[in-house]
Amino acid sequence: MTDQYDQVAATFADVEAVISFVRENLEWPSFKELLGDLRGLRVLDVGCGEGSFTRRIQQLGAAHVVGTDLSPGMIALARQAEARNPQGITYEVQDLKTMPPQGEFDVVTAIHVLHYADTRETMQTMAKTMHANLKPGGRLVVLSANANSSEESETAAGFRTYRPANPQEGDKFKVAVLTTPPTEIEVHHWPTETIVDVLETAGFTNVTWAPVKPAATVAPADRTRAERCAKSPTSLTITATKP
Ligand SMILES: C[S@@+](CC[C@H](N)C(=O)[O-])C[C@H]1O[C@@H](n2cnc3c(N)ncnc32)[C@H](O)[C@@H]1O
Repeated sequence: MTDQYDQVAATFADVEAVISFVRENLEWPSFKELLGDLRGLRVLDVGCGEGSFTRRIQQLGAAHVVGTDLSPGMIALARQAEARNPQGITYEVQDLKTMPPQGEFDVVTAIHVLHYADTRETMQTMAKTMHANLKPGGRLVVLSANANSSEESETAAGFRTYRPANPQEGDKFKVAVLTTPPTEIEVHHWPTETIVDVLETAGFTNVTWAPVKPAATVAPADRTRAERCAKSPTSLTITATKP
């Protein structure tokens, strides 16, 4: 069966060109700060896609990095990148809803993946799986869609969202990445409080979230756009610990 990300894999370079501004100037700097020192650590990146952040995680000094994703097309792209420039990253096709434990990791990362959960039960299963893959004391670091993103930040980031009026938890809606023609993806509406609750129910503690913000290093010519991206931004970070 082909899933929506197998379609995206075919035109991934176009998508990446549009989303790179917010990724480079807000998302990666905010996320990297939370990852901290990864030297010597084992990291599992779930929903890794074609691995652009997985590779950066490995470059922060992680001893071993595993990337998993539902989409064979995205994992094929990730493996091609690994073959071109070997970093020792292992990539596996795995659905987070059914994935068996991949090991005991120090850190699990989930970057733009939780909003694909179609029900609260599905999100709860995903949270339980991430918890099961961490060693005691291990950390979860999430980047996720902000259910309260502003139209201004979406436009500045190169997206358009088609949320229903008064969206309810789990409601499906389309996001268009403004490629030519637009690349449409179906996602689900998950208020931050629900994600926090689901993570706590799975056994995580110290669950803390924050909106992404522009890096101090944003080039002067890019600051106005970065500030627009930051007005109720399109994504937020969540960190949590497995006791
Ligand atoms: C927006 S992309 C993000 C990819 C990558 N984390 C990044 O930020 O570059 C979302 C990814 O989540 C994957 N995904 C969605 N649902 C999933 C699931 N149930 N299990 C594993 N991966 C999933 C998709 O196949 C897609 O590659």
